[in-house]
Amino acid sequence: MNLEFTEEQEMMRKMVRDFAQKEVAPIVEKMDKEDYYPTDLVKKMGELGLMGIPIPEEYGGAGMDFTSYIIAIHELSRVSASVGVILSVHTSVGTNPILYFGSEEQKKAYIPKLASGEYIGAFALTEPGAGSDAGSLKTKAIKDGDHYILNGSKVFITNGGEADTYIVFARTNPDAGSKGVSAFIVEKGTPGLEIGKKENKMGMNGSSTVSLSFDNCKVPTSQLLGKEGEGFKIAMANLNIGRIGIAAQSLGIADAALEESVSYAKGREQFGKSIAQYQGISFKLADMATAVEASKLLTYNAASLRTRGVDCGKESSMAKMHASQTAMSVTTEAIQVHGGYGYTEDYPVERFFRDAKVCEIYEGTNEIQRIVIGKHLFEGK
Ligand code: CAA
Repeated sequence: MNLEFTEEQEMMRKMVRDFAQKEVAPIVEKMDKEDYYPTDLVKKMGELGLMGIPIPEEYGGAGMDFTSYIIAIHELSRVSASVGVILSVHTSVGTNPILYFGSEEQKKAYIPKLASGEYIGAFALTEPGAGSDAGSLKTKAIKDGDHYILNGSKVFITNGGEADTYIVFARTNPDAGSKGVSAFIVEKGTPGLEIGKKENKMGMNGSSTVSLSFDNCKVPTSQLLGKEGEGFKIAMANLNIGRIGIAAQSLGIADAALEESVSYAKGREQFGKSIAQYQGISFKLADMATAVEASKLLTYNAASLRTRGVDCGKESSMAKMHASQTAMSVTTEAIQVHGGYGYTEDYPVERFFRDAKVCEIYEGTNEIQRIVIGKHLFEGK
C-alpha cells in the first residue's frame, strides 16, 4: 500500500481544509446548538464542486477520483462531522445509485442537478422494523399501469428534510425475501410522500434525520432504478462503497480530538509542569495517535482500492468499523485528557464525543460490519 497522494489530491486537501476553516468553523456552534441545517454552506459547497467530486464531468461532476472525495469528507469532518455526513450520504448513497444503476435518461435527469448541489440526495432503506435486517423491509410498491403505488414508512433518513430525491427501497414481491426488493427514485413533492418527525439526536446536529411515510404515493414506472428485484443488490453495492465515507468521517472526528488533546496537554500545567510531561497523559496520547494512524491507513487503503476499481467490500467494512471505534475511544480519552473542562461545552471534545457514537451505528452497525467481514473470510465474498 502506498499512502502518497497525487498533486491533485493534495490540492483537494488544501482547498477543503481552507474552506472548512473559513466557512464551516464559524457556524459549527450554531449547527450544534440550534440543530441548524446549513443551506447556504451546502450551496457554496456545490459552487466549489464538492457535491459531485467523484461524478464524471459528462454528468456535471468534478470528475475527480474516489480518494479525493474521501479526502474532502475527512477534512470537513475534522471541523464538522455533520457537514461530513451531509456530503457523504448525498454522494455515496444519494447520487451513486443513479450513476451506477440508472438508465441514461435517469442519469441525465438527476445527476447534473445532484452533482452541482442544486438537488440534495437521500437514501431511504431503514424502516421501523427493518434496520440491520434490511432485506426484511415492508414498504410495498404495487404496480398499477404506468405507476407503482408505494405504501409504508422509513426512519432515520439522513438529509431527509432537505432532499430533492430519495432512493427508496420497497417490496415488489412479498414472497421473494431480499430478492423481492426494488429501488426507486422518488422526488420531493410526489403526492403521498410525507416528511415526518425530525429526530432530536445526541450529536450530528445540523444534519437532518427524519422519518418518511408513503401513503398511496404514486411513482411513475420510469422511476424504477435498475430492474424489479434488484433493489437489495443496489443497496448493498452502494453501502459497500458508502461505508468508506463513514470511515473518513470517523477519522476526521478522531483526528480533531487528538489534535485538541495534544494542544491542551501541552498548555495545561499541574504540579508545576505541563500535563504532557506525565506518562499517564503522554502514553494515552501515544495510544490515541496510533489508533488514528491505523484508521487512516485502513480508510485510505479502501479508498485507493475503490479508486483503482478493485472490489473493496471487506476493506470498506474494516475501515468503517475500525475508524468509528477509534473515533469513540479517542474522543472518550480526549475528554479524560481535558479533565473537567472536557465535560463542558467550552471545549469541542464533548461535541466530538457525541458526534462519534453514531458512526458505530449508521450505514450498518459495527456488528453488521463484522458479519460482512466474516462472509468475506468464510464464503469468499
Ligand atoms: N455486498 C454485496 N452483496 C451482498 C452483500 C454485500 N455487502 N451482502 C449481501 N449481499 C448479497 C448476497 O450475496 C446475496 O446475494 P445472492 O443471493 O445472489 O447470493 C443477497 O445479497 C442476500 O444476502 P444475505 O442472505 O447474506 O443477506 P441478509 O439478509 O442476511 O443481510 C446483511 C446481509 C449484510 C446483514 C445486510 O442486510 C446489511 O448490510 N444490513 C445492514 C443494513 C445497513 O447498512 N443499513 C444502513 C442504512 S443506510 C444509512 O445508515 C445511511 C445514513 O443515513 C447515514
